[in-house]
Amino acid sequence: MTKTNTLLLFLLILLSACNGGSSRGSGKDDPHRYVIKTDVPARPAGQKDVLGLVTPRLDTVRVGFIGLGMRGPGAVQRFTHIPGTKIVALCDLHADRVEETQTILDKAGLPRAADYSGSEEAWKKLCDRDDIDLVYIATDWKRHAEMMIYAMEQGKHVACEVPAAMTLDEIWSVINTAEKTQKHAMQLENCVYDYFELTTLNMAQQGLFGEVLHAEGAYIHNLRDFWGYYEGDWRMQYNKEFRGDVYATHGMGPAAQVLDIHRGDKMNLLVSMDTKPVNIPEYLIEVRGMERDSAYQFANGQHTMTMIRTEKGKTIHIQHDVASPRPYSRMYQVSGTKGFANKYPNQGYALEAEMVDESVTPDHENLNSHSYVSDEVKDALMVKYKHRIHRELEEKAKEVGGHGGMDFIMDYRLVYCLQNGLPLDMDVYDLAEWCSLAELSRISLENNSAPVEVPDFTRGNWNRIQGYKHAFVE
Ligand SMILES: NC(=O)c1ccc[n+]([C@@H]2O[C@H](COP(=O)([O-])OP(=O)(O)OC[C@H]3O[C@@H](n4cnc5c(N)ncnc54)[C@H](O)[C@@H]3O)[C@@H](O)[C@H]2O)c1
Repeated sequence: MTKTNTLLLFLLILLSACNGGSSRGSGKDDPHRYVIKTDVPARPAGQKDVLGLVTPRLDTVRVGFIGLGMRGPGAVQRFTHIPGTKIVALCDLHADRVEETQTILDKAGLPRAADYSGSEEAWKKLCDRDDIDLVYIATDWKRHAEMMIYAMEQGKHVACEVPAAMTLDEIWSVINTAEKTQKHAMQLENCVYDYFELTTLNMAQQGLFGEVLHAEGAYIHNLRDFWGYYEGDWRMQYNKEFRGDVYATHGMGPAAQVLDIHRGDKMNLLVSMDTKPVNIPEYLIEVRGMERDSAYQFANGQHTMTMIRTEKGKTIHIQHDVASPRPYSRMYQVSGTKGFANKYPNQGYALEAEMVDESVTPDHENLNSHSYVSDEVKDALMVKYKHRIHRELEEKAKEVGGHGGMDFIMDYRLVYCLQNGLPLDMDVYDLAEWCSLAELSRISLENNSAPVEVPDFTRGNWNRIQGYKHAFVE
Protein backbone atom coordinates (compact mmCIF):
# COMPACT_ATOMS: atom_id res chain seq x y z
CA MET A 1 0.00 0.00 0.00
CA THR A 2 1.15 3.54 -0.67
CA LYS A 3 1.66 5.94 2.23
CA THR A 4 -1.51 7.79 1.23
CA ASN A 5 -3.46 4.54 1.27
CA THR A 6 -2.13 3.61 4.69
CA LEU A 7 -2.96 7.02 6.10
CA LEU A 8 -6.46 6.84 4.63
CA LEU A 9 -6.90 3.38 6.09
CA PHE A 10 -6.05 4.53 9.61
CA LEU A 11 -8.31 7.53 9.34
CA LEU A 12 -11.13 5.25 8.25
CA ILE A 13 -10.52 2.82 11.12
CA LEU A 14 -10.61 5.75 13.51
CA LEU A 15 -13.74 7.13 11.92
CA SER A 16 -15.57 3.81 11.87
CA ALA A 17 -14.60 3.18 15.50
CA CYS A 18 -16.05 6.59 16.43
CA ASN A 19 -19.19 5.85 14.44
CA GLY A 20 -19.53 2.51 16.16
CA GLY A 21 -19.33 4.13 19.58
CA SER A 22 -21.63 7.05 18.88
CA SER A 23 -24.28 5.28 16.87
CA ARG A 24 -25.18 2.51 19.30
CA GLY A 25 -28.77 1.42 18.58
CA SER A 26 -29.50 3.01 15.22
CA GLY A 27 -26.01 2.18 13.90
CA LYS A 28 -26.49 -1.57 14.09
CA ASP A 29 -28.14 -1.62 10.67
CA ASP A 30 -25.32 0.35 9.09
CA PRO A 31 -23.43 -2.15 6.89
CA HIS A 32 -20.31 0.06 7.08
CA ARG A 33 -20.05 0.03 10.87
CA TYR A 34 -16.59 -1.09 12.07
CA VAL A 35 -15.56 -1.93 8.51
CA ILE A 36 -12.06 -0.97 7.38
CA LYS A 37 -12.05 0.45 3.89
CA THR A 38 -9.23 0.80 1.44
CA ASP A 39 -8.89 3.44 -1.24
CA VAL A 40 -10.83 2.83 -4.47
CA PRO A 41 -9.20 4.96 -7.16
CA ALA A 42 -11.62 6.69 -9.53
CA ARG A 43 -11.71 5.28 -13.07
CA PRO A 44 -9.48 7.57 -15.16
CA ALA A 45 -11.42 9.80 -17.54
CA GLY A 46 -12.08 8.31 -20.97
CA GLN A 47 -11.53 4.75 -19.76
CA LYS A 48 -14.23 2.07 -19.82
CA ASP A 49 -14.56 -1.26 -18.09
CA VAL A 50 -13.61 -4.55 -19.75
CA LEU A 51 -16.57 -6.65 -18.60
CA GLY A 52 -17.38 -9.14 -21.39
CA LEU A 53 -14.40 -7.81 -23.37
CA VAL A 54 -14.13 -9.17 -26.91
CA THR A 55 -11.13 -8.46 -29.11
CA PRO A 56 -10.55 -9.11 -32.82
CA ARG A 57 -10.32 -12.80 -33.77
CA LEU A 58 -6.82 -14.25 -34.06
CA ASP A 59 -6.40 -17.09 -36.57
CA THR A 60 -3.06 -17.94 -35.00
CA VAL A 61 -2.28 -17.02 -31.43
CA ARG A 62 1.43 -16.10 -31.32
CA VAL A 63 2.84 -16.55 -27.83
CA GLY A 64 5.89 -15.49 -25.86
CA PHE A 65 6.63 -17.23 -22.54
CA ILE A 66 8.41 -15.62 -19.59
CA GLY A 67 9.58 -17.81 -16.70
CA LEU A 68 10.76 -21.36 -17.35
CA GLY A 69 11.26 -22.78 -13.87
CA MET A 70 9.19 -25.61 -12.40
CA ARG A 71 5.91 -24.40 -13.95
CA GLY A 72 6.72 -22.65 -17.24
CA PRO A 73 8.05 -25.49 -19.45
CA GLY A 74 4.86 -27.52 -18.89
CA ALA A 75 2.86 -24.65 -20.40
CA VAL A 76 5.14 -24.59 -23.45
CA GLN A 77 4.69 -28.33 -23.80
CA ARG A 78 0.89 -27.98 -23.61
CA PHE A 79 0.87 -25.26 -26.26
CA THR A 80 2.61 -27.65 -28.69
CA HIS A 81 -0.70 -29.58 -28.61
CA ILE A 82 -3.00 -26.62 -29.29
CA PRO A 83 -3.77 -26.05 -32.98
CA GLY A 84 -3.60 -22.46 -34.23
CA THR A 85 -0.79 -21.37 -31.93
CA LYS A 86 2.81 -20.39 -32.61
CA ILE A 87 5.49 -20.34 -29.92
CA VAL A 88 7.48 -17.28 -30.92
CA ALA A 89 9.76 -16.49 -27.97
CA LEU A 90 11.01 -17.92 -24.68
CA CYS A 91 12.54 -16.03 -21.77
CA ASP A 92 14.09 -16.89 -18.43
CA LEU A 93 16.84 -15.43 -16.28
CA HIS A 94 18.87 -18.55 -17.06
CA ALA A 95 19.98 -19.39 -20.61
CA ASP A 96 20.12 -23.13 -19.82
CA ARG A 97 16.39 -23.14 -18.88
CA VAL A 98 15.55 -21.51 -22.21
CA GLU A 99 17.72 -24.05 -24.04
CA GLU A 100 16.10 -26.96 -22.20
CA THR A 101 12.66 -25.65 -23.14
CA GLN A 102 13.71 -25.34 -26.79
CA THR A 103 14.10 -29.13 -26.77
CA ILE A 104 10.34 -29.40 -26.13
CA LEU A 105 9.83 -27.65 -29.47
CA ASP A 106 12.47 -29.88 -31.14
CA LYS A 107 10.66 -32.99 -29.93
CA ALA A 108 7.34 -31.64 -31.20
CA GLY A 109 8.90 -30.96 -34.61
CA LEU A 110 8.34 -27.20 -34.24
CA PRO A 111 10.79 -24.42 -35.11
CA ARG A 112 12.91 -23.08 -32.26
CA ALA A 113 11.72 -19.86 -30.64
CA ALA A 114 13.65 -16.61 -30.20
CA ASP A 115 15.45 -16.71 -26.87
CA TYR A 116 15.86 -14.09 -24.18
CA SER A 117 17.86 -14.51 -20.97
CA GLY A 118 20.74 -13.23 -18.92
CA SER A 119 19.17 -10.22 -17.22
CA GLU A 120 16.25 -9.25 -14.97
CA GLU A 121 14.96 -7.03 -17.80
CA ALA A 122 15.37 -9.34 -20.83
CA TRP A 123 11.61 -10.07 -20.76
CA LYS A 124 10.92 -6.49 -21.88
CA LYS A 125 12.54 -7.22 -25.24
CA LEU A 126 10.19 -10.18 -25.65
CA CYS A 127 7.22 -7.89 -24.96
CA ASP A 128 8.56 -5.30 -27.42
CA ARG A 129 8.34 -7.72 -30.38
CA ASP A 130 5.64 -6.99 -32.91
CA ASP A 131 4.94 -10.62 -33.80
CA ILE A 132 3.45 -11.70 -30.45
CA ASP A 133 -0.25 -11.57 -29.49
CA LEU A 134 -0.09 -13.13 -26.04
CA VAL A 135 2.53 -12.91 -23.28
CA TYR A 136 2.33 -15.92 -20.95
CA ILE A 137 3.97 -15.31 -17.55
CA ALA A 138 5.12 -18.07 -15.18
CA THR A 139 7.73 -16.26 -13.09
CA ASP A 140 7.65 -15.77 -9.32
CA TRP A 141 5.05 -13.46 -7.75
CA LYS A 142 7.31 -10.44 -7.32
CA ARG A 143 7.09 -9.03 -10.84
CA HIS A 144 3.85 -10.50 -12.21
CA ALA A 145 1.98 -7.18 -12.17
CA GLU A 146 4.87 -5.20 -13.63
CA MET A 147 5.24 -7.73 -16.45
CA MET A 148 1.50 -7.79 -17.24
CA ILE A 149 1.30 -4.01 -17.29
CA TYR A 150 4.31 -3.60 -19.55
CA ALA A 151 3.10 -6.31 -21.96
CA MET A 152 -0.39 -4.76 -22.24
CA GLU A 153 1.18 -1.38 -22.86
CA GLN A 154 3.07 -2.98 -25.76
CA GLY A 155 -0.29 -4.08 -27.20
CA LYS A 156 -0.27 -7.70 -26.01
CA HIS A 157 -2.88 -9.79 -24.24
CA VAL A 158 -1.51 -11.29 -21.04
CA ALA A 159 -2.02 -14.53 -19.15
CA CYS A 160 -0.30 -14.77 -15.80
CA GLU A 161 0.25 -17.53 -13.29
CA VAL A 162 -1.33 -17.33 -9.86
CA PRO A 163 -1.42 -15.08 -7.94
CA ALA A 164 -1.14 -12.53 -10.74
CA ALA A 165 -0.96 -9.57 -8.34
CA MET A 166 -0.01 -9.35 -4.68
CA THR A 167 -1.12 -5.90 -3.44
CA LEU A 168 -4.13 -3.64 -3.97
CA ASP A 169 -1.89 -1.08 -5.66
CA GLU A 170 -0.74 -3.73 -8.14
CA ILE A 171 -4.31 -4.90 -8.69
CA TRP A 172 -5.64 -1.42 -9.45
CA SER A 173 -2.72 -0.76 -11.82
CA VAL A 174 -3.41 -4.00 -13.70
CA ILE A 175 -7.14 -3.14 -13.94
CA ASN A 176 -6.41 0.39 -15.12
CA THR A 177 -3.99 -0.84 -17.77
CA ALA A 178 -6.42 -3.49 -19.03
CA GLU A 179 -9.19 -0.86 -19.22
CA LYS A 180 -6.92 1.71 -20.88
CA THR A 181 -5.51 -0.71 -23.48
CA GLN A 182 -8.69 -2.86 -23.81
CA LYS A 183 -6.49 -5.96 -23.67
CA HIS A 184 -7.23 -9.24 -21.94
CA ALA A 185 -5.51 -9.85 -18.61
CA MET A 186 -6.30 -13.39 -17.54
CA GLN A 187 -5.05 -15.11 -14.45
CA LEU A 188 -4.03 -18.72 -15.15
CA GLU A 189 -6.24 -20.26 -12.48
CA ASN A 190 -6.37 -23.90 -13.48
CA CYS A 191 -8.49 -25.29 -10.62
CA VAL A 192 -11.71 -23.91 -12.08
CA TYR A 193 -11.34 -26.50 -14.87
CA ASP A 194 -10.91 -29.57 -12.66
CA TYR A 195 -13.46 -32.31 -13.31
CA PHE A 196 -15.37 -32.26 -10.06
CA GLU A 197 -15.43 -28.45 -9.87
CA LEU A 198 -16.67 -27.91 -13.42
CA THR A 199 -19.26 -30.68 -13.16
CA THR A 200 -20.46 -29.22 -9.87
CA LEU A 201 -20.63 -25.73 -11.38
CA ASN A 202 -22.82 -27.14 -14.14
CA MET A 203 -25.09 -28.84 -11.57
CA ALA A 204 -25.34 -25.60 -9.62
CA GLN A 205 -26.19 -23.65 -12.76
CA GLN A 206 -28.93 -26.21 -13.54
CA GLY A 207 -30.35 -25.58 -10.07
CA LEU A 208 -29.50 -28.96 -8.54
CA PHE A 209 -28.42 -27.46 -5.22
CA GLY A 210 -31.29 -24.97 -5.07
CA GLU A 211 -29.98 -21.53 -4.17
CA VAL A 212 -26.25 -21.78 -3.45
CA LEU A 213 -25.61 -20.03 -0.14
CA HIS A 214 -22.08 -21.00 0.81
CA ALA A 215 -18.87 -22.14 -0.86
CA GLU A 216 -15.47 -23.15 0.45
CA GLY A 217 -12.01 -23.49 -0.98
CA ALA A 218 -8.42 -23.73 0.16
CA TYR A 219 -4.80 -24.28 -0.61
CA ILE A 220 -3.62 -26.87 1.87
CA HIS A 221 -0.36 -28.30 0.61
CA ASN A 222 2.69 -29.06 2.72
CA LEU A 223 5.52 -27.46 0.71
CA ARG A 224 8.35 -28.80 2.90
CA ASP A 225 9.79 -30.87 0.03
CA PHE A 226 9.56 -27.95 -2.41
CA TRP A 227 11.02 -24.98 -0.50
CA GLY A 228 14.53 -25.59 -1.80
CA TYR A 229 13.55 -25.51 -5.46
CA TYR A 230 12.13 -22.01 -5.95
CA GLU A 231 14.43 -19.61 -7.81
CA GLY A 232 16.31 -17.48 -5.29
CA ASP A 233 14.07 -18.80 -2.46
CA TRP A 234 11.33 -16.34 -3.51
CA ARG A 235 8.40 -18.28 -2.06
CA MET A 236 9.91 -18.74 1.40
CA GLN A 237 10.94 -15.08 1.46
CA TYR A 238 7.43 -13.99 0.51
CA ASN A 239 5.86 -16.06 3.27
CA LYS A 240 8.47 -14.82 5.74
CA GLU A 241 7.58 -11.23 4.99
CA PHE A 242 3.80 -11.24 4.50
CA ARG A 243 1.01 -12.25 6.85
CA GLY A 244 -2.31 -13.21 5.26
CA ASP A 245 -3.58 -15.61 2.60
CA VAL A 246 -0.87 -15.09 -0.02
CA TYR A 247 -2.09 -17.94 -2.24
CA ALA A 248 -5.87 -17.79 -2.26
CA THR A 249 -6.78 -18.16 -5.92
CA HIS A 250 -7.06 -21.98 -6.13
CA GLY A 251 -9.75 -21.86 -3.48
CA MET A 252 -11.32 -18.61 -4.59
CA GLY A 253 -11.76 -19.42 -8.29
CA PRO A 254 -14.32 -22.26 -8.11
CA ALA A 255 -16.11 -20.62 -5.14
CA ALA A 256 -16.44 -17.25 -6.90
CA GLN A 257 -17.70 -18.80 -10.13
CA VAL A 258 -20.42 -20.85 -8.42
CA LEU A 259 -21.57 -17.69 -6.60
CA ASP A 260 -21.61 -15.48 -9.74
CA ILE A 261 -19.24 -12.94 -8.23
CA HIS A 262 -19.41 -9.67 -10.23
CA ARG A 263 -22.05 -11.34 -12.36
CA GLY A 264 -25.02 -10.65 -10.12
CA ASP A 265 -23.36 -10.69 -6.69
CA LYS A 266 -20.29 -9.13 -5.15
CA MET A 267 -18.07 -9.72 -2.16
CA ASN A 268 -18.71 -7.07 0.48
CA LEU A 269 -16.45 -7.80 3.41
CA LEU A 270 -14.05 -10.32 4.87
CA VAL A 271 -12.54 -11.26 8.20
CA SER A 272 -9.41 -13.36 8.69
CA MET A 273 -7.80 -15.26 11.54
CA ASP A 274 -4.57 -17.24 11.61
CA THR A 275 -2.52 -19.47 13.88
CA LYS A 276 1.03 -18.64 14.82
CA PRO A 277 3.69 -20.08 12.51
CA VAL A 278 5.54 -23.15 13.84
CA ASN A 279 6.49 -25.76 11.25
CA ILE A 280 8.23 -23.42 8.81
CA PRO A 281 10.35 -21.66 11.47
CA GLU A 282 11.28 -25.11 12.82
CA TYR A 283 12.20 -26.20 9.27
CA LEU A 284 14.38 -23.10 8.92
CA ILE A 285 16.20 -24.02 12.15
CA GLU A 286 16.50 -27.74 11.40
CA VAL A 287 17.20 -27.77 7.67
CA ARG A 288 18.74 -24.36 7.03
CA GLY A 289 20.56 -23.94 10.32
CA MET A 290 18.95 -20.58 11.06
CA GLU A 291 19.08 -19.05 14.55
CA ARG A 292 15.83 -19.61 16.46
CA ASP A 293 15.11 -15.90 16.95
CA SER A 294 15.54 -15.08 13.32
CA ALA A 295 13.60 -18.17 12.12
CA TYR A 296 10.64 -17.08 14.22
CA GLN A 297 10.69 -13.61 12.66
CA PHE A 298 8.15 -15.12 10.29
CA ALA A 299 5.02 -13.23 9.28
CA ASN A 300 2.79 -15.84 7.63
CA GLY A 301 0.58 -17.83 9.97
CA GLN A 302 0.66 -21.60 9.70
CA HIS A 303 -3.07 -21.82 9.06
CA THR A 304 -5.01 -18.82 7.77
CA MET A 305 -8.81 -18.70 7.49
CA THR A 306 -10.79 -16.00 5.73
CA MET A 307 -14.56 -15.61 5.72
CA ILE A 308 -16.28 -13.44 3.14
CA ARG A 309 -19.87 -12.18 3.00
CA THR A 310 -21.52 -11.13 -0.23
CA GLU A 311 -24.08 -8.49 -1.18
CA LYS A 312 -26.73 -11.21 -1.65
CA GLY A 313 -26.10 -12.66 1.82
CA LYS A 314 -23.92 -15.60 0.77
CA THR A 315 -20.64 -16.67 2.40
CA ILE A 316 -17.27 -18.03 1.30
CA HIS A 317 -14.67 -19.68 3.54
CA ILE A 318 -11.08 -19.81 2.26
CA GLN A 319 -8.08 -21.43 3.95
CA HIS A 320 -4.31 -21.42 3.43
CA ASP A 321 -1.77 -23.78 4.97
CA VAL A 322 1.53 -24.71 3.32
CA ALA A 323 3.25 -26.02 6.44
CA SER A 324 1.15 -28.57 8.34
CA PRO A 325 1.60 -32.29 7.73
CA ARG A 326 -1.79 -32.67 6.08
CA PRO A 327 -2.93 -34.33 2.85
CA TYR A 328 -3.28 -32.01 -0.12
CA SER A 329 -6.71 -30.40 -0.12
CA ARG A 330 -8.55 -27.56 -1.78
CA MET A 331 -11.48 -28.11 0.61
CA TYR A 332 -13.94 -27.48 -2.21
CA GLN A 333 -17.54 -27.40 -0.98
CA VAL A 334 -20.78 -25.97 -2.30
CA SER A 335 -23.79 -25.73 -0.02
CA GLY A 336 -27.26 -24.78 -1.23
CA THR A 337 -30.87 -24.87 -0.12
CA LYS A 338 -31.44 -28.24 -1.86
CA GLY A 339 -28.06 -29.94 -1.93
CA PHE A 340 -24.39 -30.08 -1.15
CA ALA A 341 -21.14 -30.98 -2.95
CA ASN A 342 -17.84 -31.94 -1.35
CA LYS A 343 -14.55 -32.76 -3.04
CA TYR A 344 -11.93 -33.53 -0.35
CA PRO A 345 -11.04 -36.10 0.83
CA ASN A 346 -13.88 -37.94 -0.89
CA GLN A 347 -16.01 -36.61 -3.69
CA GLY A 348 -19.68 -36.70 -2.90
CA TYR A 349 -23.07 -35.12 -3.36
CA ALA A 350 -25.97 -34.93 -0.93
CA LEU A 351 -29.30 -33.91 -2.40
CA GLU A 352 -32.93 -33.58 -1.49
CA ALA A 353 -34.72 -36.44 -3.25
CA GLU A 354 -36.81 -34.07 -5.34
CA MET A 355 -33.63 -32.79 -7.04
CA VAL A 356 -32.77 -36.13 -8.64
CA ASP A 357 -34.89 -37.54 -11.43
CA GLU A 358 -35.68 -41.27 -11.71
CA SER A 359 -33.38 -41.71 -14.68
CA VAL A 360 -30.24 -41.08 -12.64
CA THR A 361 -31.17 -42.82 -9.42
CA PRO A 362 -31.99 -46.48 -9.22
CA ASP A 363 -32.99 -46.15 -5.57
CA HIS A 364 -34.94 -42.96 -5.44
CA GLU A 365 -36.86 -43.91 -2.30
CA ASN A 366 -33.74 -44.07 -0.11
CA LEU A 367 -32.32 -40.82 -1.30
CA ASN A 368 -32.13 -37.96 1.16
CA SER A 369 -29.64 -35.31 2.08
CA HIS A 370 -28.70 -36.84 5.45
CA SER A 371 -25.95 -38.76 3.71
CA TYR A 372 -24.13 -38.75 0.41
CA VAL A 373 -25.78 -40.32 -2.59
CA SER A 374 -24.41 -43.76 -3.47
CA ASP A 375 -21.37 -44.00 -5.76
CA GLU A 376 -23.67 -45.36 -8.43
CA VAL A 377 -25.93 -42.29 -8.26
CA LYS A 378 -22.96 -39.93 -8.03
CA ASP A 379 -21.39 -41.48 -11.15
CA ALA A 380 -24.68 -41.22 -13.03
CA LEU A 381 -25.03 -37.57 -11.98
CA MET A 382 -21.49 -36.78 -13.05
CA VAL A 383 -22.14 -38.26 -16.48
CA LYS A 384 -25.45 -36.47 -16.84
CA TYR A 385 -24.02 -33.10 -15.77
CA LYS A 386 -20.62 -33.40 -17.43
CA HIS A 387 -19.76 -29.88 -18.57
CA ARG A 388 -19.69 -29.15 -22.27
CA ILE A 389 -15.99 -28.19 -21.94
CA HIS A 390 -15.20 -31.63 -20.56
CA ARG A 391 -17.35 -33.38 -23.13
CA GLU A 392 -15.34 -31.68 -25.84
CA LEU A 393 -11.86 -31.75 -24.31
CA GLU A 394 -11.62 -34.47 -21.69
CA GLU A 395 -9.96 -37.11 -23.84
CA LYS A 396 -7.30 -34.79 -25.25
CA ALA A 397 -6.75 -33.15 -21.84
CA LYS A 398 -6.06 -36.50 -20.17
CA GLU A 399 -3.61 -37.38 -22.95
CA VAL A 400 -1.68 -34.08 -22.73
CA GLY A 401 -1.92 -33.85 -18.93
CA GLY A 402 -0.96 -31.07 -16.52
CA HIS A 403 -2.54 -31.67 -13.09
CA GLY A 404 -4.66 -34.44 -14.59
CA GLY A 405 -5.71 -32.36 -17.62
CA MET A 406 -7.07 -29.15 -16.09
CA ASP A 407 -3.96 -27.18 -17.13
CA PHE A 408 -4.45 -28.16 -20.76
CA ILE A 409 -8.13 -27.22 -20.63
CA MET A 410 -7.20 -23.81 -19.21
CA ASP A 411 -4.70 -23.10 -21.99
CA TYR A 412 -6.99 -24.50 -24.67
CA ARG A 413 -9.92 -22.34 -23.54
CA LEU A 414 -7.72 -19.22 -23.48
CA VAL A 415 -6.60 -19.86 -27.07
CA TYR A 416 -10.12 -20.86 -28.23
CA CYS A 417 -11.63 -17.61 -26.94
CA LEU A 418 -8.82 -15.49 -28.43
CA GLN A 419 -9.16 -17.27 -31.77
CA ASN A 420 -12.90 -16.78 -31.86
CA GLY A 421 -13.11 -13.26 -30.46
CA LEU A 422 -15.05 -14.40 -27.37
CA PRO A 423 -14.91 -13.12 -23.78
CA LEU A 424 -12.36 -15.12 -21.80
CA ASP A 425 -13.51 -17.46 -19.02
CA MET A 426 -11.73 -15.28 -16.44
CA ASP A 427 -11.44 -11.51 -16.71
CA VAL A 428 -9.29 -8.93 -14.98
CA TYR A 429 -11.93 -8.42 -12.25
CA ASP A 430 -11.76 -12.14 -11.36
CA LEU A 431 -8.01 -11.70 -11.14
CA ALA A 432 -8.51 -8.71 -8.85
CA GLU A 433 -11.09 -10.32 -6.57
CA TRP A 434 -9.24 -13.60 -6.11
CA CYS A 435 -5.83 -11.93 -5.57
CA SER A 436 -7.16 -9.22 -3.27
CA LEU A 437 -7.31 -11.68 -0.37
CA ALA A 438 -3.55 -11.36 0.08
CA GLU A 439 -3.68 -7.74 1.21
CA LEU A 440 -7.24 -7.63 2.57
CA SER A 441 -6.67 -10.64 4.82
CA ARG A 442 -3.41 -9.09 6.06
CA ILE A 443 -5.26 -5.87 6.96
CA SER A 444 -7.89 -7.87 8.87
CA LEU A 445 -5.26 -9.93 10.72
CA GLU A 446 -3.24 -6.88 11.68
CA ASN A 447 -6.40 -5.31 13.13
CA ASN A 448 -7.54 -8.15 15.41
CA SER A 449 -9.58 -9.82 12.66
CA ALA A 450 -11.57 -6.67 11.95
CA PRO A 451 -13.98 -6.73 8.98
CA VAL A 452 -12.42 -5.28 5.84
CA GLU A 453 -14.42 -4.10 2.86
CA VAL A 454 -13.74 -5.94 -0.39
CA PRO A 455 -13.56 -3.19 -3.01
CA ASP A 456 -15.87 -3.39 -6.01
CA PHE A 457 -13.14 -3.76 -8.61
CA THR A 458 -15.67 -3.22 -11.43
CA ARG A 459 -16.29 0.26 -9.93
CA GLY A 460 -20.08 0.03 -10.01
CA ASN A 461 -20.79 -2.54 -12.72
CA TRP A 462 -20.80 -5.79 -10.75
CA ASN A 463 -24.50 -6.40 -11.48
CA ARG A 464 -24.51 -5.78 -15.24
CA ILE A 465 -23.74 -9.35 -16.33
CA GLN A 466 -26.17 -11.87 -14.84
CA GLY A 467 -24.71 -15.30 -14.09
CA TYR A 468 -21.29 -16.76 -14.74
CA LYS A 469 -20.97 -18.51 -18.10
CA HIS A 470 -18.39 -19.82 -20.55
CA ALA A 471 -18.54 -18.50 -24.10
CA PHE A 472 -18.80 -20.82 -27.13
CA VAL A 473 -19.05 -20.38 -30.86
CA GLU A 474 -22.63 -21.43 -31.57
N1 LIG B 1 -1.45 -23.07 -11.15
C1 LIG B 1 -0.71 -24.00 -10.57
O1 LIG B 1 -1.14 -25.12 -10.32
C2 LIG B 1 0.71 -23.66 -10.23
C3 LIG B 1 1.62 -24.65 -9.86
C4 LIG B 1 2.93 -24.28 -9.59
C5 LIG B 1 3.32 -22.95 -9.66
N2 LIG B 1 2.40 -22.01 -10.00
C6 LIG B 1 2.78 -20.60 -10.12
O2 LIG B 1 3.68 -20.46 -11.20
C7 LIG B 1 4.60 -19.42 -10.95
C8 LIG B 1 6.03 -19.94 -11.08
O3 LIG B 1 6.26 -20.91 -10.08
P1 LIG B 1 7.46 -21.96 -10.19
O4 LIG B 1 7.14 -23.03 -9.22
O5 LIG B 1 7.69 -22.33 -11.62
O6 LIG B 1 8.69 -21.09 -9.66
P2 LIG B 1 10.21 -21.25 -10.07
O7 LIG B 1 11.00 -20.48 -9.07
O8 LIG B 1 10.53 -22.70 -10.26
O9 LIG B 1 10.29 -20.59 -11.50
C9 LIG B 1 10.26 -19.21 -11.73
C10 LIG B 1 11.09 -18.96 -12.98
O10 LIG B 1 10.96 -17.58 -13.33
C11 LIG B 1 12.24 -17.12 -13.73
N3 LIG B 1 12.32 -15.67 -13.55
C12 LIG B 1 12.29 -14.96 -12.41
N4 LIG B 1 12.43 -13.64 -12.66
C13 LIG B 1 12.54 -13.53 -13.99
C14 LIG B 1 12.73 -12.42 -14.86
N5 LIG B 1 12.85 -11.18 -14.40
N6 LIG B 1 12.81 -12.66 -16.19
C15 LIG B 1 12.70 -13.92 -16.68
N7 LIG B 1 12.54 -15.01 -15.90
C16 LIG B 1 12.46 -14.81 -14.57
C17 LIG B 1 13.23 -17.86 -12.84
O11 LIG B 1 14.53 -17.88 -13.39
C18 LIG B 1 12.58 -19.25 -12.77
O12 LIG B 1 13.07 -20.09 -13.78
C19 LIG B 1 4.24 -18.89 -9.57
O13 LIG B 1 3.36 -17.82 -9.71
C20 LIG B 1 3.52 -20.04 -8.92
O14 LIG B 1 2.66 -19.65 -7.89
C21 LIG B 1 1.11 -22.34 -10.28
